Amino acid sequence: MITSKDLRKKYIEFFKSKGHVEIPSASLVPENDPTVLFTTAGMHPLVPYLLGENHPAGKRLVNVQKCVRTGDIDDVGDSTHNTFFEMLGNWSLGDYFKDESIRWSWEFLTDKKWLGIDPKRIKVTVFEGDKDAPRDDESIKIWQECFEKFKIKAEVYAKEDKNAKTARIFPLPKEDNWWGPAGITGPCGPDTEIFIDLEKPVNLEKCPSGDDCRPGCKCGRYVEIWNNVFMQYNKTAEGKFVPLAQKNVDTGMGMERTLAILNGYSNVYETDVFIPLIGKIGEISGKNYQDYKKEFRIIADHIRASVFMISDGVVPLNVERGYILRRLLRRAIRHGKTLEMPANFLTPLAEAVNNIYKENYSDLKKSKNKMLDEIKNEEEKFEKTLETGLRKLKEYVSKKEKSCTSGIAKILKDNNTDFVSMIPGKDAFDLYQSYGFPPELVKEELAHYQMTYNKEEFDEEFKKHQSLSRTASAGKFKGGLADHSEQTAKYHTATHLLLAALRKVLGENIYQRGSNITAERMRFDFSHSEKMTKEEIKKVEDIVNEQIQKNLLVGLEEMSLEDAKRLGAMGIFEIKYGERVKVYTIGDERTGIFSREICGGPHAANTGVLGKFKIKKEEASSAGVRRIKAILE
Ligand code: SER
Repeated sequence: MITSKDLRKKYIEFFKSKGHVEIPSASLVPENDPTVLFTTAGMHPLVPYLLGENHPAGKRLVNVQKCVRTGDIDDVGDSTHNTFFEMLGNWSLGDYFKDESIRWSWEFLTDKKWLGIDPKRIKVTVFEGDKDAPRDDESIKIWQECFEKFKIKAEVYAKEDKNAKTARIFPLPKEDNWWGPAGITGPCGPDTEIFIDLEKPVNLEKCPSGDDCRPGCKCGRYVEIWNNVFMQYNKTAEGKFVPLAQKNVDTGMGMERTLAILNGYSNVYETDVFIPLIGKIGEISGKNYQDYKKEFRIIADHIRASVFMISDGVVPLNVERGYILRRLLRRAIRHGKTLEMPANFLTPLAEAVNNIYKENYSDLKKSKNKMLDEIKNEEEKFEKTLETGLRKLKEYVSKKEKSCTSGIAKILKDNNTDFVSMIPGKDAFDLYQSYGFPPELVKEELAHYQMTYNKEEFDEEFKKHQSLSRTASAGKFKGGLADHSEQTAKYHTATHLLLAALRKVLGENIYQRGSNITAERMRFDFSHSEKMTKEEIKKVEDIVNEQIQKNLLVGLEEMSLEDAKRLGAMGIFEIKYGERVKVYTIGDERTGIFSREICGGPHAANTGVLGKFKIKKEEASSAGVRRIKAILE
């Protein structure tokens, strides 16, 4: 048996022997990158270096990186998908390229001194070429030479030849074998993916492709374990692919999957990073893993991811990262219900995760108590509403079933086995709003009854709710400011932009000390003892105007004061806020969050409507407090 410890160690050792320097795993919460919620690959924290900045550790790097991917959350429970996983990665920053990269991967995988995988079990994919870049013949050639060493003739797959059974190299289009920034421009290039052939379907009884089964087939026969990305182009704003001066290699190997394969296990839950956890779930529930595989796996996956997220500073909330965490915890709790788990069952499981990983991740030890507290709190919170929520859901289901026993719905249902009834979005929203059911949990529950919910109606309901609270706060505001509400709303939004810009330019010790808005101008007081220089004023103006030009969304959420503080919302904490507060966020996940403040509102819906921001005056207001007068033109 090879353990997770052995595999990590071997990987690092191998690449060290090839001149790589080991770097530590970065946090799951990306630093300085508001465009993604979590670190999804080892390359993520390395982006500046892939773009040409010098890395202090050199040009050849290796590490084990904690990653979270939530795109596949519905697949969790099968044999290979996890929300949290460890990625073994090696990088060349403008140093070696395809040749060494492929040969070293091959050596590490097949050499008896390292993993010793039978080369006959290995199949690879390469980029097939299109109008932007040619087929990756370089990689094909290198792969063929690698196979040749074992006297294996590596055929390239061609549809016309119907040679899926004998081919070893499979060219695929951009969707499969190209890697680059999710955005529009930047370094990118073809990749080559390494698969292990399990020689039989794993996910399905029978392979739907028959003799044409190839890597990527959903029967699960081929498991991707390693991806070598060759960043050799820069995609320009005009959509051109220009060869990069610095060519990089970025590889990532899924630790858990590879571990399962090496040990001949059919799934990751049998590996040593899961066994103690699966055992603990069995012990607490008194149930058998074989009878409740899906529940065991979902609980194990979700609690493991949650523990790592909390250890990196994420807390359960209703927005963004915190919401992903909340969804994972609540889904685990729901599946625990099926196993008839006792109250607070997540706590001992979290401890089990901690034990499995504490030697490799010292942060876990440090944050253990906080982690256990957060998990316990969340479980207690959701426990209170889960039972009644499930009862309510059954009511909605039977209401819908009754309406399906007659009329057109009945005819459809009787004649079409695929017919899925939809409960109204309003009912699904009620489960979300009043009982804390994340939407996908509602979906999952309804699927038991061959039902779903009306997503459009749900979204509408969601929006309506947001704007209702917006109107409510606008109404309150009106008392003080009478008319001109639209203009004042714009100024209100401008003060949030101004505060965030001041903090960027003058530092984090800038706080709001007061503000006064009319339909014609704004006045803003803040903690600062020196006169601002002309340059500083100009910089602040520029930053504010930049955000206006980006036409950022201004979002509103209601939450407890405690949650708002945990989200890092700015506020004037000398003021007494109520238990529930409104939090305005400028910018979103896509654009990055520019400002977040506790505030009564009202605000403009997006920054684009503000016009041009101009500072008219900057002066002392009182000791240690400066005052800015500004207008929107
Ligand atoms: N970035 C690539 C991946 O995530 C290789 O590490 O697969």
